[in-house]
Amino acid sequence: MASSTQKVVDIHTHMYPPAYVKILESRSTIPLVRSFPNSPDPRLILLEAEVPSLGVAAVTDDGATTTPTHVPGRPLTKHYSSLAQKIHFMDTHNISISVISLANPWLDFLSAEESGPQAKSINASFSAMCAEHPGRLYFFAALPLTAELATVLSSITEASELPYCRGVILGTSGLGKGLDDSDLLPIFSALAEANMTVFLHPHYGLPNEVWGPLASANYGHVLPLALGFPMETTIAVTRMYLAGVFDAVRGLRMILAHSGGTLPFLAGRIESCVLHDGHLVREGKVTAQRRTVWDVLREQIYLDAVIYSDVGLKAAVDAAGGADRLMFGTDHPFFPPLTSDEQGPWESVTLNAEAVNKAVGEGSEEAKGIMGGNAIRVLRLVGE
Ligand code: URA
Ligand code: ZN
Repeated sequence: MASSTQKVVDIHTHMYPPAYVKILESRSTIPLVRSFPNSPDPRLILLEAEVPSLGVAAVTDDGATTTPTHVPGRPLTKHYSSLAQKIHFMDTHNISISVISLANPWLDFLSAEESGPQAKSINASFSAMCAEHPGRLYFFAALPLTAELATVLSSITEASELPYCRGVILGTSGLGKGLDDSDLLPIFSALAEANMTVFLHPHYGLPNEVWGPLASANYGHVLPLALGFPMETTIAVTRMYLAGVFDAVRGLRMILAHSGGTLPFLAGRIESCVLHDGHLVREGKVTAQRRTVWDVLREQIYLDAVIYSDVGLKAAVDAAGGADRLMFGTDHPFFPPLTSDEQGPWESVTLNAEAVNKAVGEGSEEAKGIMGGNAIRVLRLVGE
């Protein structure tokens, strides 16, 4: 980790406030929380890819609950909802400031009537957590995207008035049709207007069939998390680019989770496919004045540094046009250590910190920026 004189900022770090966990406990379809007889912690089951194992684990042929050997999902430990545990995690890893956000799938599954009030109460609980540790915590608010537009817009105004709120966390479903939906433009404009940065985070991955018939019994969560999540982000941002969202809302600023998925690697290919697309050329969309994918990456997009290797991180720095557009993150409470004490250092964190040192040089100005300086500047964070 960085030296103690340098402020480390974690911009990718989640929580589920207790009231949100209660909602998950009351549900019978994903996302849900369920207890199993031989599992000490309740299990958090979020992903479509976990549904096949949920069915096998929960019920026998005669309908009785089994004691499965492989319980689905992941343990819902106190790391997910305890603020004391978040602060302990920060102290353990020398993190000065965390910008916390609700974890996936946010409020996506709530009805139009429920989501407005839930957003208000969840954002209030994030705000209260930040107020307990002034200067150490800020947050990205959750939006009630299943509600009426007016409700979404007023929740942006309300969140922007909360002193520790610096933006919103957003999934890729938007209002149900993805982020290239023109109905989202007033929302993106309102966010830009309020100087709220969008932290774009995946949840839905790719359809289960992509992983093949062996996956659910044999490959754990590797395929949806390592590949599905980054592809989802890549596709969502490329669709926004092709729809002209970044041109329509020039003030929009986004931080992309997981170093932009595969965008740093594929941006050149996206550009070439645009240039060589007969349909786009005929429609007059491939003009000399158009902003390229590279322009958008360098003007409107920041990338987190949650990629676990200097190889990916170097590509991210290049694609972003410089190390000053990258920001360190941990993805806590996901990816806890499985063979060492969860109260000690987490390998998932040290991997990301080491990647920064290897990619841009330990102690360099670039490393200081990625580890904290960039987030402090871009998100206007004031420490203790
Ligand atoms: N990281 C997240 O943020 N969410 C998941 O579901 C898994 C990893
Ligand atoms: Zn995350």
